[in-house]
Amino acid sequence: MSEHQSEILEQHYAGGDIVAGVKKALGDIGKAEGALKPEELSSIDQFHVRSLLATKDLAAAAEPQRDMEILDIGSGLGGAARYLASAFGCRVTGIDLMQSYCDAAAMLTERCNLSDRISFRQADALALPFPDARFDQVWTQHVSMNIADKATLYSEMHRVLRANGRLAIYDPVRAGSEPLHYPVPWARDERTSFVPTEAELKQHLQNAGFTVRSWEDKTQVALQWFEEMEKKWAGTKPSPLGIHVLIGPDIRPMSTNLRTNLREGRAKLIQAVCEAR
Ligand SMILES: C[S@@+](CC[C@H](N)C(=O)[O-])C[C@H]1O[C@@H](n2cnc3c(N)ncnc32)[C@H](O)[C@@H]1O
Repeated sequence: MSEHQSEILEQHYAGGDIVAGVKKALGDIGKAEGALKPEELSSIDQFHVRSLLATKDLAAAAEPQRDMEILDIGSGLGGAARYLASAFGCRVTGIDLMQSYCDAAAMLTERCNLSDRISFRQADALALPFPDARFDQVWTQHVSMNIADKATLYSEMHRVLRANGRLAIYDPVRAGSEPLHYPVPWARDERTSFVPTEAELKQHLQNAGFTVRSWEDKTQVALQWFEEMEKKWAGTKPSPLGIHVLIGPDIRPMSTNLRTNLREGRAKLIQAVCEAR
């Protein structure tokens, strides 16, 4: 990835002081101190459509087991890592391009008393700082759209995964012939948005050495979820502990555009589990 693209991503995801912002938001909901439960954080630490529900669905499909070593690529604030560790007893390593997200993820993990099972480190998904076959599963949600070099991305995932290990994916793909509406939650414009079609994604996975074990279109459940959330939150003030702490108030029009892209058939959401050949 070019330095220019990294700078745009940094500005997009981590324009402010992320750790201070998350701590302030925790204070605003009366949780400045003391132990936290992982599920209390889902409004800020599940940065993808359908929040914790999507993470639970992906885990049900990937079937992580106790003490498995899992790598979460683009781990954000670490919500999936804490879910996999607390619900299944996995050992999780998260990597993210944003140092400040890794710092906030470590702080939240400490507050959840899960630091013995989870660690975070700043790294680029295109150059994973791990030896071959280091992990039992690789996990990624809503990250690949920021990465142009899909061949390197999926071959790096394959390299660090043991033979027959599973790759769990939850990502948007492009559909139809109309362009996406921007901004979306992962990018303000096409300079850092590289969304493949479903067929392209399958081809990248195949080329990297993966066999698809399950492939589910989650678009309709996502649209229902948007509708339910709209009804649930109508007329109420949004929680101070939200994705706006990371991205700023533009997260609202970004989410609306993503919903419109799904509704108009310009994008779909795919949940897939693949196995390393
Ligand atoms: C939309 S957020 C999703 C975060 C997390 N997976 C989740 O679902 O809550 C996308 C994340 O991908 C990270 N990211 C983007 N490009 C990356 C790269 N090349 N390597 C590692 N992380 C990257 C961003 O920093 C951001 O945290």
